[in-house]
Amino acid sequence: MDKLTVRDADVAGKRVLVRVDFNVPIEDGKVKDDSRIRASIPTIAYLLDQNASVILMSHLGRPNGKIVESARLRPVAERLSALIRRHVPVTGDAIGIGTTDAIARLKPGQLLMLENLRFHAEEEANDPAFAKTLASYGDLYVNDAFGTAHRAHASTVGVPKLLPAYAGLLMELEIRNLSALLESPGRPFAAVIGGAKVSSKLAVLEHLMTTVDTFLVGGGMANTFLVAKGMSVGKSLLEKDRVEDAARILAAAESAGVQFLLPTDVVVAKEVTRGAEHKTVLAHKIPNSWSVVDIGPATRHTFEEALEPARTIFWNGPLGVFEVPTFGDGTRSMARYLARRAETGTTVVAGGGDSVAAIEELGLASKFTHISTGGGASLEFLEGKELPGIAVLLDRPEPAKPAPVAPVAATRKPAAGSKQKTPAVR
Ligand code: 3PG
Repeated sequence: MDKLTVRDADVAGKRVLVRVDFNVPIEDGKVKDDSRIRASIPTIAYLLDQNASVILMSHLGRPNGKIVESARLRPVAERLSALIRRHVPVTGDAIGIGTTDAIARLKPGQLLMLENLRFHAEEEANDPAFAKTLASYGDLYVNDAFGTAHRAHASTVGVPKLLPAYAGLLMELEIRNLSALLESPGRPFAAVIGGAKVSSKLAVLEHLMTTVDTFLVGGGMANTFLVAKGMSVGKSLLEKDRVEDAARILAAAESAGVQFLLPTDVVVAKEVTRGAEHKTVLAHKIPNSWSVVDIGPATRHTFEEALEPARTIFWNGPLGVFEVPTFGDGTRSMARYLARRAETGTTVVAGGGDSVAAIEELGLASKFTHISTGGGASLEFLEGKELPGIAVLLDRPEPAKPAPVAPVAATRKPAAGSKQKTPAVR
């Protein structure tokens, strides 16, 4: 990786400001999915082990510059405390006299969490004065918030411009695994792309077109492709203004020799709600007043068959309306299939929202080669964009070029009668 990491920094006895992405779902005052919190523990534990004082900073939700009680970080700190078995105090505010005092009292080997950064509009505005205040809390900065690396905010871009800035261990893991997909995937490389809207996946489809051998497309976004191929999709979710883009992608895949598979059968429902009447139909026979809610069993089979030769698989996005359990079979069976593949040596990387939720729900996360903690960030990374929160971190210096080798003196034949048996070698 071309960025310096926390392992390259001398952190002992220093105050280290760590940007984490603890933007996790909270339900009834409790963390519902703690995977992002668990993913940053290696960096936190490493810094505490090195006797650094650790100041964690994160956002939670989108409180838009106001104090929103339900967006306080206390449940997150409680979950982290339970995971690392030590109390994690949270300041009353990300900045202010109370925070300055708490940081001044912080000793090496201790940690503290700042309250939700987004209670201040200055965070998202990347306000220089706000960044300066945050930067004054640390001697150095570590970014472990891969999930927020696509945002140019005060805590992701402003602060690292003011302090020596390193990648955390999670950030390093994400960059390594996602770069490997773009730069050196084991072939064949297949990408399973789902989710509701094709508009949010066009850029990643276009960028991956130069790298993948096979695309398998499901979820609501597949409807727009079916229409581009001349089929009708009844009442299903459809982005009419993207049909041309979908047709362009299909044509690009054909000319690049990339296999592009769409559902051949689908589950359709009268309503997209729990308990609604539903049935399986062929993709070219979707009835007018029904909506596509999942891929069908034949498609599940075809997709698995197409994935069989793959040595690398990337998955982003559910293949149906996964949040309604009856319409989640396609997504869940893909999660199980990919977990089996990862267990038998295929590189399987998953990223983004609901597909990861399906993997987590089935308890399969540990089987995957890598599960990205970034939704939008992992997509933008795979779109080939430079993420501002990564770009700003310190570059690893180029290894020094070896000194030029002095030319070896030409070896001469020993003169007749010379005692020298072997030529001198310098
Ligand atoms: C995410 O969950 O994608 C990140 O935490 C970024 O959150 P945001 O989309 O509210 O900026």
